[in-house]
Amino acid sequence: MLNIVLFGAPGAGKGTQAAILAGEHDLVHLSTGDILRKEIASGTELGKQAQGFIDKGEFVPDRVVIDIIRSQIEQHPDAKGFIFDGFPRTTAQAETLDRLMTEKGMQIASMVALDVETGELVKRLLKRGASSGRADDRSLDVIRNRIDVYHRKTEPIIGYYHTQKKYHPIDGTGDIADISDRLRRHVKGL
Ligand code: C5P
Ligand code: MG
Repeated sequence: MLNIVLFGAPGAGKGTQAAILAGEHDLVHLSTGDILRKEIASGTELGKQAQGFIDKGEFVPDRVVIDIIRSQIEQHPDAKGFIFDGFPRTTAQAETLDRLMTEKGMQIASMVALDVETGELVKRLLKRGASSGRADDRSLDVIRNRIDVYHRKTEPIIGYYHTQKKYHPIDGTGDIADISDRLRRHVKGL
């Protein structure tokens, strides 16, 4: 089994690279952000709860996203592996993911971080906002808050995976194909 955490700030390219990697290795791509947006679009109770947080660029409570991840893992008992995109976002989520993995006899092989500097992140997010219709990509204030929340709550996870010797930063700038090559080389060596 190959389980990978694809890590990075908002706009780092996690979704794009996760989709490519999932296709190449026949892995299940789990994006908590995509799942939450689908819940919002379908008008579910979960979606209604999540919307207020997402619109402000804040996090949905840990237990809510953890329940989503647990249920997704259980819905794919025959998976060759999972790519976690946008999860974990807090150290509590990272710890729970490890417990969940252990429970199911699985483990995270690597946490790959896409490194992109802040100016480039903002540029990418505004560009995506102009085409994707994502409200949280359209407001500079919300974008700034998401990056700030990333630094405060998500970046500390690096230390968590570093201690486990699973932290692998790669350059997340340049052509999408070049970034995929870097990612592919790393994953081949796992
Ligand atoms: O991962 P993505 O950028 O698509 O997530 C969009 C939004 O979904 C985040 O800004 C956040 O509000 C919410 N989210 C969350 N917790 C997660 C993943 C996403 O609160 N683990
Ligand atoms: Mg994404």
